[in-house]
Amino acid sequence: MPEPVSFQAPKGTFDVLAPESGAYERLIAVFATVVERAGYGLVVSPMFEDFAVFQRVGETTDVVRKEMYDFYDKGDPPRHLALRPEGTASVVRAFVEHRPPLPFKAWYAAPSFRYEAPQAGRFRQHHQLGIEALGTEDPDLDVEVIGLLAAFYAEVGLRRVTCRINSLGDDECRPAYRAELTAFLEARADQLCDEHRTRIRENPLRVLDCKRPECLAATADAPRQIDRLCGPCAAAYARVKEGLRATGVTFSEDPRLVRGLDYYTRTTFEFAAEALASAQNAVGGGGRYGGLAESLGGPPTPGIGFGCGMERVLLACGAEGVELAWSVGVEAFVVDTAGGAAARDLTRELRAAGIRADRAWDGRSFKAQFRAADRSGARLALVVGPDEAERRVVAVKPLRGGGGQSEVARDGVIDHVRELLGR
Ligand code: HAM
Repeated sequence: MPEPVSFQAPKGTFDVLAPESGAYERLIAVFATVVERAGYGLVVSPMFEDFAVFQRVGETTDVVRKEMYDFYDKGDPPRHLALRPEGTASVVRAFVEHRPPLPFKAWYAAPSFRYEAPQAGRFRQHHQLGIEALGTEDPDLDVEVIGLLAAFYAEVGLRRVTCRINSLGDDECRPAYRAELTAFLEARADQLCDEHRTRIRENPLRVLDCKRPECLAATADAPRQIDRLCGPCAAAYARVKEGLRATGVTFSEDPRLVRGLDYYTRTTFEFAAEALASAQNAVGGGGRYGGLAESLGGPPTPGIGFGCGMERVLLACGAEGVELAWSVGVEAFVVDTAGGAAARDLTRELRAAGIRADRAWDGRSFKAQFRAADRSGARLALVVGPDEAERRVVAVKPLRGGGGQSEVARDGVIDHVRELLGR
């Protein structure tokens, strides 16, 4: 029996058509403006990489163990590849391959793929806006990176977004903390949830992230990494907090904030949208990573960055009532019942003058063309019937936004439209 064919977007994915897709355009444009102002340059990298590249982001994490879209290609021998589940590994791999000068400051807008159980705000293909900055441990860079994400939300118009920060220490102080936490958890293993009871040794920090009441109760007085930072980590963390205060970024400290990927050291942070249900309210997050470049074959190079889920930001905008101005849609629509030459030539001239313009096709009736003009959302209909064509004029009819109908010479119509549109 052949499998039933589904001609629908795969489960957990979706299409975005205009005008809703205008919100995506707008988010990317706002993001680019904010981060390019701070010297970040766009990186475009492949949507798939060698499986091993992504393995480096965390062999004990769900993202790598359970959610990776991996496959073998048609090579001989076949290569083991995976669709990008997140942006950091790709950017660091590209850095190691090309060795641009340091600091290397990159931004991306990238579809990311995770085989998760789809639900509101959680998809199998989502889109991340992100930055990565490589080449320095200076904690003031942490302040810049966190501040840029806060600036992006503010620029988009979101008001109810909160920032939590933590420090996860480094190779110097984390091993001892990890051992202490492991011993603490093992002594209370019977009080933990089923999932985490068996995963203590593999990744004890993840237990702190568990939201189940039994885990929360059992770990209420668990040792905290921030109380056990080594000198340099403690100094860096203090400087980050001082910098966030000095630059006006509101934050709270959350010693339980551990993130879902393995590469983090020192500063980690997450932004939550209060208007969204807590399971999917993380609108962005990131942190520092120490060993990622080295594990991908490069020189030891510290880095920091964040990823911000566009769909979550759009959901938060909806929940907060933030209207993202659509930039799509035409401004002028040419209605031509005089043979089509005006529609053909005038739309081209309008577009050349920077005016978004469209027209109808197939020599439709005046009524049908006018309906199309109205549906297009254009502010102006430019009408050329046989009479106007004969007299070399264009009738300009406002479709929305008020104003009366006027008639202008064909030669002056572009200037007239410009004026009406306030250009
Ligand atoms: P992440 O926290 O796994 O971090 O993802 C970043 C953001 O992507 C999340 O805060 C969320 O907004 C969005 N997101 C993640 N998974 C989904 C999903 N299934 N559906 C919808 N949105 C989702 C990272 O990916 C790191 N690479 C961030 C980073 C950059 N750290 C350092 N540099």
